[in-house]
Amino acid sequence: MGIRLGLVFASALLLTSCGPARDASEAQASVSAETLLSSTPETNQDEGERVFQKLCVICHGLGVAGAPKAGDSEAWAARIDQGMETLVEHALLGFQGEQGVMPPRGGDMSLSDAEVEAAVSYMVEVSR
Ligand code: HEC
Repeated sequence: MGIRLGLVFASALLLTSCGPARDASEAQASVSAETLLSSTPETNQDEGERVFQKLCVICHGLGVAGAPKAGDSEAWAARIDQGMETLVEHALLGFQGEQGVMPPRGGDMSLSDAEVEAAVSYMVEVSR
């Protein structure tokens, strides 16, 4: 709640005092959307990033609905300690934890095991 209020306050400040800064952050948002669309899978890491950006980011991008935020090493440390095998199994089969529900394959049953595994590796890599 405190963070949310802070964000509202910060954007209000930007709106009133600093128009160009707001434009800049909007421009940034559209750039990253383009980067997502044009990224081509080459290595396994790229594949993982592609799947992550397409789907997992919905919850793991900002840490929505109890999902551990990608890049938040604190949120991931204990999970990573479980080992990759458990993490991948939870991502494939789904997982009900204390914080929320991780849907099987993030909710997209058309993803292959390899794609889900690559996305888990990607999240773990950026969250160490
Ligand atoms: C609808 C929201 C949602 C989506 C989409 C989603 N997740 Fe999750 N995920 C969660 C939540 C919530 C948790 C935490 C559950 C808990 O610990 O209470 C979680 C936890 C995890 C964990 C940790 C499991 C553990 O044992 O601690 C992994 C790994 C994971 N997700 C991978 C993925 C991958 C890979 C994708 C994309 C293919 C994905 N998630 C998409 C909501 C989501």
